[in-house]
Amino acid sequence: MGNFKNELKSMFTEHWKYLAVAAACKVRLFDKIYEGQNTLEMLSDSNMWNKLTLMQLLNFLNHEGYIHFDNKLTFYLTEKGDLLRESNSDGLFYACLNWADEHLNAWQNIHYSIITGKSSFELLYQKPFFEFLNDDSEKLRNYHLAMSQYAIDDYRELPETIDFSIHKSVMDVGGGLGIAIQLIKTKYPDTDCLLFDLEEVLKGVKSEFVKKVPGNFFIKIPDIAEAIILSRVIHDWDDDKAAVIISNCHIALPQGGILYVIENCSDHIEVDLSLLSLNMAALCQSYERSSSAYIQICINAGFTYHSHKKLNQLQTVLIFQK
Ligand SMILES: C[S@@+](CC[C@H](N)C(=O)[O-])C[C@H]1O[C@@H](n2cnc3c(N)ncnc32)[C@H](O)[C@@H]1O
Repeated sequence: MGNFKNELKSMFTEHWKYLAVAAACKVRLFDKIYEGQNTLEMLSDSNMWNKLTLMQLLNFLNHEGYIHFDNKLTFYLTEKGDLLRESNSDGLFYACLNWADEHLNAWQNIHYSIITGKSSFELLYQKPFFEFLNDDSEKLRNYHLAMSQYAIDDYRELPETIDFSIHKSVMDVGGGLGIAIQLIKTKYPDTDCLLFDLEEVLKGVKSEFVKKVPGNFFIKIPDIAEAIILSRVIHDWDDDKAAVIISNCHIALPQGGILYVIENCSDHIEVDLSLLSLNMAALCQSYERSSSAYIQICINAGFTYHSHKKLNQLQTVLIFQK
């Protein structure tokens, strides 16, 4: 009984840790220490921050291994803290901030989603999640940089896992800033690589190697590729909307064309997906599915299920043929 009480009391304030780290990111604390503002005086004087509360934050970051102090009270970033610099191109600064602000507000109201099955994000912001993002260029940019920071790690093995050389052309639909398709292009330079996403999103893509195809997958996906990748897209949508996207992929592919659906399939992993699924409910009124649920949506649209391959600890590639 005593143990459970202690466990619960710790759990009630567990989110303080993330919020303190996110606050440090918001004020670019890790960047400032890296750039040489590495004493309490320098940080508080240059930025006009309160010394007492700043020192409390620094003590927490030291305790949790983000920074360390030397005996003259000069601060240094640890390897972990260095990942939270905005200027670290291999870091997780945007990934960290992704879960703050509107995202957190949606979670604060998740009881609404549990009661109604509807998105608490939409209740608060009066727009579906992706519409909200597309109406604010800075939030859109930050979201896609966050997705890319995850994608760099998650899609590293994708070109090894799937032999894309069998296709003359591959289009990543809802491919964001194009991390996955660029990795494919690097390994398969002879394959024509296309990146399909909303026009506002593609404005942020610099790559000369992949062809950008702006559009809306609820309206039409152009019939210009032998294979389509849909990664982390279907989990954003409820069953009706998911069916429209898959059906538009079916229309776009030639006979014999291949569809790769990459998702966290609850039956292929050890990790419990219930919190991620609640997150999808709050944000997008959607949920994490099992492989059989994804397979059923694709079969209903006219695809034949071929096979699956494990991509990483979380994601599975489900392979379908038209
Ligand atoms: C969760 S992100 C996944 C991005 C990328 N595939 C990845 O795995 O990192 C969903 C993507 O769907 C795109 N998207 C949302 N609505 C769309 C629409 N109506 N038409 C085309 N793309 C859309 C978003 O811009 C975003 O890039």
